[in-house]
Amino acid sequence: AEDGYDLWLRYDAPQYRQAWASIGSPGAVSADEDHPTIRAAADELTRALGHDPAATPASSAATILIGTARSPQIARLGLPLAGLGPEGYLVRAVTAEGRRTIVVAAREPVGVLYGAFALIRQAGQGGSLGGLDLSDQPRVRLRVLDHWDNLDRHVERGYAGQSIWDWWRLPAIGDRRYTDYARANASIGVNGTVLNNVNAKADSLTAPYLAKAAAVADVLRPWGIRVYLSARFSAPIELGGLKTADPLDPQVRAWWKVKADEIYRVIPDFGGFLVKANSEGQPGPRDYKRSHADGANALAAALAPHGGVVMWRAFVYADTDPDDRAKQAFTEFKPLDGTFADNVLVQVKNGPIDFQPREPFHPLFGAMPKTPLMIEFQITKEYLGFASHLAYLGPLFAETLAADTRGKGAGSTVAKVVDGSLDGHRLSGIAGVANIGSDRDWSGSIFDQANWYAFGRLAWNPTADPQALATEWTRLTWSSDPTVVTPVVAMMMRSRQAVVDYMTPLGLAHLMATGHHYGPGPWVSDLARPEWNPSYYHRADRNGIGFDRTRTGSNAVAQYAPPLARRFANPAATGEDLLLWFHHLPWDHRLAGGDTLWDTLVRRYDRGVAGAASLRSDWAALRGRVDEERWQRTAERLAVQEAEARWWRDASVAYFQSVSGRPLPPGSAKPA
Ligand code: GCU
Repeated sequence: AEDGYDLWLRYDAPQYRQAWASIGSPGAVSADEDHPTIRAAADELTRALGHDPAATPASSAATILIGTARSPQIARLGLPLAGLGPEGYLVRAVTAEGRRTIVVAAREPVGVLYGAFALIRQAGQGGSLGGLDLSDQPRVRLRVLDHWDNLDRHVERGYAGQSIWDWWRLPAIGDRRYTDYARANASIGVNGTVLNNVNAKADSLTAPYLAKAAAVADVLRPWGIRVYLSARFSAPIELGGLKTADPLDPQVRAWWKVKADEIYRVIPDFGGFLVKANSEGQPGPRDYKRSHADGANALAAALAPHGGVVMWRAFVYADTDPDDRAKQAFTEFKPLDGTFADNVLVQVKNGPIDFQPREPFHPLFGAMPKTPLMIEFQITKEYLGFASHLAYLGPLFAETLAADTRGKGAGSTVAKVVDGSLDGHRLSGIAGVANIGSDRDWSGSIFDQANWYAFGRLAWNPTADPQALATEWTRLTWSSDPTVVTPVVAMMMRSRQAVVDYMTPLGLAHLMATGHHYGPGPWVSDLARPEWNPSYYHRADRNGIGFDRTRTGSNAVAQYAPPLARRFANPAATGEDLLLWFHHLPWDHRLAGGDTLWDTLVRRYDRGVAGAASLRSDWAALRGRVDEERWQRTAERLAVQEAEARWWRDASVAYFQSVSGRPLPPGSAKPA
């Protein structure tokens, strides 16, 4: 359909037919194992072949063979499956009984499912499938979407309509969307989903809601996806009637154990809890003078007998340390390294503040070698123009994952911390705050679907190339015609930097309007808590701009490994992208290119506007090359983006000029 509902699974696109023709146009999928996941894989392939799974006979002339080594027809082929991991797959063009065909094989059914999607993805790229030989497995174990969905279906920071989880109708009444959600996630390797908001209501752990979650889990299970829940730390008080939620109190521990047992009775493969504690008003162990490890371990003990995990968030800040918000998570969590139970992962946002258009990587990466650290990205664009601005986040995710923490010498990338290989952790995970809602197109715009896609593919392989992923997604979503693919990928690849340039250039951060975070607000300075104010972050005055995080300031640089601490302490070595994140510099400070900081700042804003304008004009040139409906809806958004890029630029430049008192550089237009 042209309404975007099919996401990147558009099997009526012409390249599929050509790809299938290259292997003799298989008429069916052959599977001889009775397993829900194998059936899901077979049905999906059948759909991709252009047939109706309900109407297609089990076997016909030409077939694709799928299965595990337990399948006689797979076993007969003697494929090297032993070396694959439990989620790995092998997809090969073979000649069986004199006919060219494809075999999709794996150790476990979920691997067969991932192999089926790998084959479909390959077919969707265009070209021949003859000679195909694919083998892959995920590098990260838990690949999880975090839904910030409330039980009343409002989605916190959601820009694509209401929550897809219809709690009122569940569990008796389902929705086709749950299955399509599962298909889309399985196609990119996502294997977990947290159904409810981190700002959790205790209600989600009551029996009626557990029954609803169980119904969702039943739909997702064949697609290899486990359900998790956000747990409210004070639930033993709210639901259990206890006087305390102190994690060391025996009654509290007993309550969590009983609750976990109850959950596993209805969701036998329940993934575990996500917890936001002692952050932004949420209850937590600190309320009882206990540590985050005490809190996490209490819940972990209840889940451990069932194989569940705790994903304990490190996103904490409080007005107890007004010195520098960016330092607080490190200050609280680093000393706890080595004290978390085996089934706890600490979930750390990609940067030390809060999902800004650009941040340095969080200093906890590389600093807690004894703890599995999960990275948390935000797929929904709270600070990047919601779903109305185009910002392809592949480069943002990849920039953080590729950053070298130097934790164990050169090459200690965030990716290696997260996939567990740097410190030898068995548990590993990546989380993304979902951008999914009940809009027909799921994500609020077609291009926002790419951020969901890129997240899943990078969770599978954290060293994947974001440009390759953009290319893959574009072929699947828009067209495999190179005259479309090339310009669309180019637009995507420069879109995020354009947003950085017109919102928060040169390492500035958190200049968005208060509360909703849409549009500029750098002038705001009168909010109750210092770190709520944009002025806290930019610190612009008559003399200069930027946050001094060197020794003369908050010394946040000292939270990084020594070689990085040295680099970030030196403005000339920091690099322009993060310059004002780490330094407060005079307006007349000369940058490497010879221009002053003030002139460069204004030019960055101008560059951002030019970038947004070019996204719009490049898209205009594609009219007629993609379907009119999706073209039009995208064009509307790009027009908004261009206008709002000017708004950002004009408002920000006018404000900063009122502080700096400097003239605009030659060639820069006066704010409207
Ligand atoms: C941001 C966001 C909140 C969210 C919080 C979190 O601050 O604005 O809506 O609850 O992050 O990650 O917990």
